Amino acid sequence: MNTIVFHPESDPAAIQEAAAILRRGGLVGIPTETVYGLGADALNEDAVVRTFLAKGRPQDNPLIIHVPDASWLEQYCRDVPPEAYRLAERFWPGPLTMILPRRDIVPLQTTGGLETVGVRCPDHPVTLAIIRAAGVPIAAPSGNTSGRPSPTTAAHMIEDMDGKIDGIVDGGPCTVGVESTIIDLTVTPPRLLRPGGLPLEALEEVLGEVSVDKAVTGLLAAGEHPRAPGMKYRHYAPHAPVTVATGTPDRSARRILGLLSDQAGVICFDEYAPLYAGHIIHRLGPAADKSAQARHVFDALRTFDGTDVTEIFAQCPDDGGLGLAVANRLKKAAGFHLVDADRPILIGLTG
Ligand code: TXA
Ligand code: MG
Repeated sequence: MNTIVFHPESDPAAIQEAAAILRRGGLVGIPTETVYGLGADALNEDAVVRTFLAKGRPQDNPLIIHVPDASWLEQYCRDVPPEAYRLAERFWPGPLTMILPRRDIVPLQTTGGLETVGVRCPDHPVTLAIIRAAGVPIAAPSGNTSGRPSPTTAAHMIEDMDGKIDGIVDGGPCTVGVESTIIDLTVTPPRLLRPGGLPLEALEEVLGEVSVDKAVTGLLAAGEHPRAPGMKYRHYAPHAPVTVATGTPDRSARRILGLLSDQAGVICFDEYAPLYAGHIIHRLGPAADKSAQARHVFDALRTFDGTDVTEIFAQCPDDGGLGLAVANRLKKAAGFHLVDADRPILIGLTG
């Protein structure tokens, strides 16, 4: 298949053409503020099944549907609580996905067999115009091959999807850089299923108490199931194994220095880059700038593929604000292989 790349900035017909492909059941890469999505008509079972095939994604992993505003919620969700409208009022369009009971019009293929559906209104004018022109909600998982880092530029999405989908709309680099925050509103208190571009603290301002799913902070024990099926997979992983150093930036930088082999690559805060001269490095942004870290984290995880780096060490922010999402993506890429630089290394414990 020949994948058309649309440039809406210079091509006024791009939005209508992308919408027409979606309406006839095709697949189109769409820009959002978080990451690029692999769009399909959320109500068309065949189109939805093709997105799973293009990504190599397990069919039990549900898709998020994208709508242009909160007035569409009633059509696709039942029992929409007042909190959903309060959240939409405050944070949509934006990086927030709400889990709500689905109406029958949303096929089980889209929801991975669940009776709930994730809904979000993305903050990108091109994609909002495409959804309105298509007149149907657009199901869109992140536009990467399953297991790889999510694409934050059209070029990254082309790397994974060229020849597998009908088109990709180039809407520029993503301004947030990590996926949406997912909140389950079908339980009390509401539960955070995935940290993302909207900080947990912002949700708590509107909702009060929010519980945090265990899958957010660690790998689950055998037999435990996360509420967001996607959280159970090792994810975002470069080819080389990743080790994440947690702890204060000065300490994690020094701990990594002590662990580095010659062939190791490093993901670090800008201030520490000079420490690793001679290694392939990718800067996350300043230690104090978590928005910059969110914008760069997936790029960083993609950098090392195609190099001869044999292992990767990464510095990691604390869990405040966007740090929770950045740390979660890095830790998942590492399969939760972590070293805590704030704890001394124990040696010679025998008496
Ligand atoms: O920012 C985003 O959310 C991006 C852009 C394209 O909008 N989309 C995205 O989709 O990240 P995806 O499919 O890569 O991740 C969706 C996550 C998965 O972990 C999935 O298991 C979870 O959302 N999810 C979707 N529907 C769900 C539901 N009904 N209940 C629980 N989890 C759900
Ligand atoms: Mg994804």
